[in-house]
Amino acid sequence: MNQDEKRKFIINLYQNRYTCKGFDPEKRVSDEDFNAIIEAGRLAPSSMGFEPWKFVLINNEDVKEKIKPHAWGGEKSLEGASHFLVILTRSPKDLRYDSDYIEYIQKDIQGFSDELREPRKIKYKNFQIEDFKLFESDRALFDWACKNTYIALANMLTAAAVLGVDSTPIEGFHRDNLERVLIEERIIDPEHFGLCCMVAFGYTNREHRPKTRRKVEEVLEIIE
Ligand SMILES: Cc1cc2nc3c(=O)[nH]c(=O)nc-3n(C[C@H](O)[C@H](O)[C@H](O)COP(=O)(O)O)c2cc1C
Repeated sequence: MNQDEKRKFIINLYQNRYTCKGFDPEKRVSDEDFNAIIEAGRLAPSSMGFEPWKFVLINNEDVKEKIKPHAWGGEKSLEGASHFLVILTRSPKDLRYDSDYIEYIQKDIQGFSDELREPRKIKYKNFQIEDFKLFESDRALFDWACKNTYIALANMLTAAAVLGVDSTPIEGFHRDNLERVLIEERIIDPEHFGLCCMVAFGYTNREHRPKTRRKVEEVLEIIE
């Protein structure tokens, strides 16, 4: 692809990605496509590289039935989607600058030496406490981690669109009630995770509304 073709590809892709409002239960996303979508999520960027997400694929019909009453925005997805993911985010306890999880990421995943980890920890502490005021509440810290997790969600939606797979991001749920169900079902260990959002993948069974967006002049401001 030359540069012009790449631009057209990108714009065309985003013009045509849309939220699926009903899935054909007979059509399955291939393992290869699903794995590529998961890779797009796994490889997403995150603040300081802390990857606060976990993706849980729900294949169990009983669990789907238990999710349904609490997820008004996901009913159609739970009924027909080929793949239904619950997306979790790390708990406030795990995201503190001095947690075992942050130590694990910096040491075992990112491979930073003891000497490098110490100044990074101080920087991260300042960022959390001073710059972003994330210690004002557990919710502030958790929501900050969810913001990062949404980037993984966006990557997955885009990857699905590239592959011609339809998708539905889902935030239409009663958080406390659904989280309680997911804890009861042992899908969430509340010490380490909370519920962020959900997403479904499959193939549509209906026409969708044409895309509506504000004009670029309203969205982009240029300061000379
Ligand atoms: C974080 C997030 C949560 C959403 N939650 C739901 C949902 O619960 N159910 C649903 O049908 N659509 C949901 N949507 C889809 C939006 O309504 C949709 O993206 C928006 O109307 C724009 O339409 P488009 O995606 O077709 O371009 C969600 C989108 C995002 C990004």
